Amino acid sequence: MDKFLSVKRIEFDNETIDTSSSASQLQVEKKISKLFELFCSKAECDPDAPILNRENHLSYIRNHMFTIPQNYECLDSSRPWLCYWLCQSLALLNYELSLEEKSNFINFLSKCQHENGGFSGGPNQMPHLAPTYAAVCALCLIGTDDAYKVINRKKLFSFLSSLRTPNGSFRMHKYGECDVRSIYCAITVARLTNIYSDGLFDGSAQWVIRCQTYEGGFGGVPGVEAHGGYTFCGFSALLLLNAINMCDTKALLRWIVNKQMSFEGGFQGRTNKLVDGCYSFWQVAIFPVLTEMLKSEENQKLWTLYDYKALQEYVLICCQNKYSGGLIDKPGKPPDVYHTCYVLSGLSVSQHAKKNGFCIVGKPENILNENNSVYNIEVTCLEKALHYFNNTPPINQ
Ligand code: FPP
Ligand code: ZN
Repeated sequence: MDKFLSVKRIEFDNETIDTSSSASQLQVEKKISKLFELFCSKAECDPDAPILNRENHLSYIRNHMFTIPQNYECLDSSRPWLCYWLCQSLALLNYELSLEEKSNFINFLSKCQHENGGFSGGPNQMPHLAPTYAAVCALCLIGTDDAYKVINRKKLFSFLSSLRTPNGSFRMHKYGECDVRSIYCAITVARLTNIYSDGLFDGSAQWVIRCQTYEGGFGGVPGVEAHGGYTFCGFSALLLLNAINMCDTKALLRWIVNKQMSFEGGFQGRTNKLVDGCYSFWQVAIFPVLTEMLKSEENQKLWTLYDYKALQEYVLICCQNKYSGGLIDKPGKPPDVYHTCYVLSGLSVSQHAKKNGFCIVGKPENILNENNSVYNIEVTCLEKALHYFNNTPPINQ
């Protein structure tokens, strides 16, 4: 079976102890093993395999642009996220939105902006940091002056200030919970729109670093289990707060490399859990910065600290829905726009792991546009947005 895979896969060993989590792990490996076998028999006569089904994914994403299936009802308070996931996926696939598509997104997102600043999950809902992050990123991806001008920077600053607590953490919304996501969302939109101030983030880095656990990854709040999603938020927030030196990089490295699954090639989000395609972004996005940091510490020629080929094989062989298009968590799951965005985002980070040279599994046409692993915004859109906002006048804080 391993003949056409980049590396021999090591099966899970339950050491003769059956538990429900070991049974689930074996079930996943069984499904993946079938897909690997199928791939290897195909690769025998197709040197281009595995192929990114670009057209399929484009049509899946475009179908979800203006008609959303009924099972997305639970995302009614996350509607700017839908815009962001679609725009980011399209940008990575090098799809240019039409003027009409841009203006539909802009009109909808402007209806989500709250009169007191920040964005809500939908028109007439309460403002919240998560849809604020999603809306600002989506507007940056749309990338026109009309899109940028939607953001009321002064009110955004007062919205962020209203959520700050005295210890430097942020609430997700008025009376809401504080966790490492909120600091990431706040510092990201502050940096993107050029409204950062030292006072607004005083103590934030000290709060974030309390979330790095004995395992090496970050939990959502101090004292809880390390998890890929929160590790991304914590690590990237420290970077944007200019406080990355506070991170215990050796402990983080030890934790994160052990989250790559030795059979599947994809990543799990935490110890003893299953592989999931979205961690191809949440976990893999840590590596570009971590590699740079360790390179300068160790003065060594490192360029990838995980098996980028095995990761891309997981994405290309196991995470593409070949019928409807769209990408998935793991074999057996249906595609959705969240996984489509994060699987593509991670694939792009991995393909561009080596500076001045791509690390592409499969044919060169599998290449996606480059992604910024800290903001999770396609790089040309990010550079254009930063250029625009860095030329806006400071706000009177
Ligand atoms: C599943 O947890 C959760 C995720 C797959 C997403 C986690 C992502 C974040 C917390 C980052 C959010 C980022 C922003 C910018 C708001 P689970 O316990 O169901 O899954 P598991 O079994 O894989 O641990
Ligand atoms: Zn997932």
